[in-house]
Amino acid sequence: MSDVILAAENLTKEFKGFVAVDGVNLRVRRGQIHALIGPNGAGKTTCFNLLTKFLPPTRGTITYDGKDITAMSSADIARLGLVRSFQISAVFPHLTALENVRIALQRRRGDSFDFWRSQKILSRFDEEARGLLAEVGLSEFTNTAASELSYGRKRALEIATTLALNPEMLLLDEPMAGMAQADVERITALIKRISANRTILMVEHNLSVVATLSNTITVLARGKVLAEGDYATVSQDPRVVEAYIGAGHG
Ligand SMILES: Nc1ncnc2c1ncn2[C@@H]1O[C@H](COP(=O)(O)OP(=O)(O)OP(=O)(O)O)[C@@H](O)[C@H]1O
Ligand SMILES: [Mg+2]
Repeated sequence: MSDVILAAENLTKEFKGFVAVDGVNLRVRRGQIHALIGPNGAGKTTCFNLLTKFLPPTRGTITYDGKDITAMSSADIARLGLVRSFQISAVFPHLTALENVRIALQRRRGDSFDFWRSQKILSRFDEEARGLLAEVGLSEFTNTAASELSYGRKRALEIATTLALNPEMLLLDEPMAGMAQADVERITALIKRISANRTILMVEHNLSVVATLSNTITVLARGKVLAEGDYATVSQDPRVVEAYIGAGHG
């Protein structure tokens, strides 16, 4: 089994001639937490959308677990074990935390998505759903409606619904966006915990979170890979410092 779980070769995305992602080569090693960082407009979100198949690349190839996934849909790659965290809107606000995870578990089994399914059938998934809620620290909120959870706990619930799909690799899009410090600490610990037996690639603006969590960091600037390495290496790279200052992050 190869050490590299996800690889991009010459990944390129043009929007009407504007090159947002420009010949990116990326290798994510199995079992690592890998962060994609860079100043505003660097191409992080576009790159993430290419890797998760939300956007088709203009050029380049993406390989997951040795398979060429360039032409696959995001549903196809989810079945292979490469799953992107859902947007918060994908958590059903009026359902409880338990019900939300139960529905996600049902999806994994490939059952049709059916709100009218009987309580009895759904209950089969209760035990596993409770386990996932415990894993993300939401046990005491099992019967709380998602809409009543704090922002950070909603993200934890979102992660639980993603884990329900049993991903081998998880892609997180700015997991700390808009969070208060207490929630940032909670979700940082959660990501650390769930990374134990998974690979994680995340786009994240909060550099202290990136420093705490990441084994490897790829820095993008103007659509290209500017630097790569551990936090100590990339944060001291003069080109990285320059790119952040130039973009007004200094
Ligand atoms: N659909 C699109 N059409 C045209 N240009 C786009 C599109 N999406 C992104 N871009 C441009 O591509 C560049 C990279 O955008 P992207 O959103 O990937 O950057 P980012 O690194 O995620 O930035 P941020 O830190 O602000 O989130 C930007 O100049 C952006 O304006
Ligand atoms: Mg972005």
